[in-house]
Amino acid sequence: MALTTACLCCATLLVVHYSVKEHAREQVVAEAHTSLLAFDVLLHQHQNTLARKADLLATKAAMTGDDDDPGAAQSSPDALESDGSDLVAVADGAGRVVVLHSSPSSFSAADAQDMLARSSAEGSRSDWWYVGDSLYQVALEPIGHGPRKIIVGREIDYRAVHDMGRISRSQVVFSYDRHIIASTFRPIEEQEADKKLQSASSRGQIEMGDDQFFADSLELTNRSGSVVRLTVLKSFSESAALISRLNHLLLALGLVAVLAGAVFVFLISDTFTQPLANLLEGFQALERGDSDFPLHANGGDEVAQTTRAFDRMRDTLRKNEAQKQQLEDQLRQSQKMEALGRLAGGVAHDFNNLLTVIKGHSELITDRIALADPVLMSGQQIRKAADRAATLTRQMLTFSRRQALQPKVLNLNAIVDDMGKLLKRLIPEDIEVIFRTQESIGRVKADAGQLEQVLLNLAVNARDAMPRGGKLTIETQNATVDQDLARIRPSVEPGEYVKLVVSDTGTGMDAETKTHIFEPFFTTKEPGKGTGLGLATVYGVVKQTDGFIWVDTEIGVGSKFEIYLPRVNAKLDADVMRRDSPIRIAAPETVLLVEDEAEVLTLARDFLTAAGYQVLTAENGERALEVALGDNSIDILVTDVVMPRMRGPELAQRLRRVKPGLKVVYVSGYLEPNETDGDFLKEASFLNKPFSREMLVHQVGEALRKSAPANVAVETVAN
Ligand SMILES: Nc1ncnc2c1ncn2[C@@H]1O[C@H](COP(=O)(O)OP(=O)(O)OP(=O)(O)O)[C@@H](O)[C@H]1O
Ligand SMILES: [Mg+2]
Repeated sequence: MALTTACLCCATLLVVHYSVKEHAREQVVAEAHTSLLAFDVLLHQHQNTLARKADLLATKAAMTGDDDDPGAAQSSPDALESDGSDLVAVADGAGRVVVLHSSPSSFSAADAQDMLARSSAEGSRSDWWYVGDSLYQVALEPIGHGPRKIIVGREIDYRAVHDMGRISRSQVVFSYDRHIIASTFRPIEEQEADKKLQSASSRGQIEMGDDQFFADSLELTNRSGSVVRLTVLKSFSESAALISRLNHLLLALGLVAVLAGAVFVFLISDTFTQPLANLLEGFQALERGDSDFPLHANGGDEVAQTTRAFDRMRDTLRKNEAQKQQLEDQLRQSQKMEALGRLAGGVAHDFNNLLTVIKGHSELITDRIALADPVLMSGQQIRKAADRAATLTRQMLTFSRRQALQPKVLNLNAIVDDMGKLLKRLIPEDIEVIFRTQESIGRVKADAGQLEQVLLNLAVNARDAMPRGGKLTIETQNATVDQDLARIRPSVEPGEYVKLVVSDTGTGMDAETKTHIFEPFFTTKEPGKGTGLGLATVYGVVKQTDGFIWVDTEIGVGSKFEIYLPRVNAKLDADVMRRDSPIRIAAPETVLLVEDEAEVLTLARDFLTAAGYQVLTAENGERALEVALGDNSIDILVTDVVMPRMRGPELAQRLRRVKPGLKVVYVSGYLEPNETDGDFLKEASFLNKPFSREMLVHQVGEALRKSAPANVAVETVAN
C-alpha cells in the first residue's frame, strides 16, 4: 500500500516536472520574442527622438541663416553634451561633412562622410552607422529646403545595451556582420557568445558554458551583406532554477504525501488489517479444532465488535462441546450400567429361584434335624451361605435398578435416627459422629430399607477412609437447586429436594478414582475387604428414586457425598412392615400358588401347607385360571411376577374380575420394567426372592388381614 502510494506520487511528480519544464521552455521562447518586439519599439522611439533632435537643429540652422556653419551652435562640445547625443554632424550640399562632433572622438570626418554617402544613396532619413568599432543609430534631416543635412546619432555602447538588458532581464547583443559590437555579456562570456552567434542561425537554441539560451534576433539594417542585428538571448537557467525550486517543492510535497500515506496505511493496518488478520487466523484455528487461539479485540470499531462476537460464539461452541462430551460420557456410563443391569437381572432371576430352593430346603433340614445331629451344622452353614448369596444378588439388582422397591412417603430424619443407633455400633470410637438433621424437613418417596442401605454404605465407606480416626458428619436439609446451583452441580437438575449429606475427614480420592467409584465391583480395598458394590448400590437406589448424587473430594482433606431426593407433598405413609415379625399359624384359608419354577413351587407349597393353609398350585397363569374357575374358595393368590405367557399382574387382574376382592401377594427376584403391568403393587403385597419360610407365611398372613381393595369392577373372565 505504502509502495503504491510512493509510486503514484513519483509518477505524478514526473508528469508535473516534464509538463512544467515544457511550459517553461515555451515561456522562454515567448519571452525572448516579446523582448525583441519591445526593443524594436524602443529603437523606433530612439529613432524618433534622434529625428526630432535633428529636425530641431536643422530648423535652428535655417533660422540663423549661417550657411557656412549651420551647426555652429553645436560646434562646441558643451552643446553636444547638453543635447545628450553622441554624434552631431553637418554636411554641405556636396555631401562633405563640414562639422563633426562625436564621442568617442575616434570618429573622423572621412568616416562620417563615407557613411553619409551610403545613407544618402539609399535616401533614408534613419540609419545605422558602424564606424571604428562603434555602432550609431542616426537620423538625417535636411536643413531648410537646401541640400545640406544635419546628422544626429546615438552610440549603441555598453551603457545603452545594459539599459535595454535591464528592461527585459535577458541578454541583449548588437552585432555587425555577426560580430558583437555591444552586449550585456561579461567580456569572457562575450567572446564565447561571439563565436556561437557566428555559427548559429538567427533564431534557435544556443549552448554556452553550462547554460542554455534561446536566441531571437531582428535585422536592423542590411546593406550589401553587412547586417546590423539585434539579438535577444533568454536564458533557460532562470526557468531551470524555477523548475528546480519547483522540483524541490514537489519532492517535499511528495515526501509529505508518502509519509502521510505511510501513516494512513499504518493507521488502517493497525485499526483494520491486523485485527482482521487476527480474526481470520482465529477462524482458521477454529476450523482446525483449536478454539483457544488468542484474539485481540480492542476498541469499539466494527472489526473489534465482530471479533468479540466471534469470541462469544467460540465460547458457546466450546461450552456446547464440553456439554456434548459430558452428555456422551453420561450416556456411555448409563448404557454400561444398563447392560450390566440386564446381565445382573437375567442372572438374578434364575439365581434367586435356586437360592429360594437352597434356602428353603436348608431351613427344612435344620428344622427337622435334632439339635445333637452333626448334619445340623452343615445345614446352618448352607443357610448362611445362601443368605450371603441372596444379599449379593440383591445388591446387584439394586445397582441395576431392577430391585423391587416398596416406595413409601417418609421422613428422612426418621431413617437417620433409626440408623444412628446401628451406626454407633459400627463406627469405632476414634471417629466422632455428628448428626445435623434439619427440623421440619420435607418428605420423600423412597424405599425405607434401601435408604437405610444407602446411609449404611456411605457411613461404612467414610469409616474405612478414616483408619486413624476423624469426623463423620451426617446432615439432612431441604435444598432448592436453582439454575445457578445446577451450573456448579451439572449432574443435578433444578428442583426442590431433601438433601442427605455424608462427609468425612478421611483420605479423600484422586480424580481417577472418583470417576470409577459408582461402577460395580470397583474397589481400592484389599481383596476380601470390599466387593466394590457399596456405591454402585447407592447409585442404583438414588437413581431409582429419581434423585441425584454429587461428590466432592480432595486427597488428604476428605470426601462429601450429597444425595438429592425429590421432595414430595403427599402425606406420610404408615410404618413399613417389619420382616422379623413372629410367624403366626394361619386359619385354614385357601391359597392359589402360581410359580413356573417347579422346585420353588413345591417348596412354597410345603411352607404354606405346614403353616396350615389349603394350597392349590399352578405352574403358569393359564393353568391358574382353570384352577380358580374350578374352586370358588380361593382367598388369596400368591404368584410369581415374571412368568412365560402370562405375567403375575395380568393373572391377578383376570382373577379379580371373577373374584373381586381377591388378595394378592407377588413374589419376585427382580422386576423388569413392563408398561402393561401399571402400578400393580398398589393393591397387593410383595415378597422378595429368595424368601424364607417365615417371610412367606408372614406376608400371606398380613395380606389376608388387610381390608379388601375398594372399587374393583365385577366382570366375567374373558377366557
Ligand atoms: N468416603 C470415602 N473416602 C475415600 N474413598 C472412598 C470413600 N467412599 C468410597 N471410596 C472409594 O470408592 C471405592 C468404591 O467404594 P464402594 O463402597 O463402592 O466399594 P468398597 O467400599 O470398596 O467395597 P464394598 O462393596 O464393601 O462397599 C472404595 O474402594 C474407595 O476407594
Ligand atoms: Mg463400600
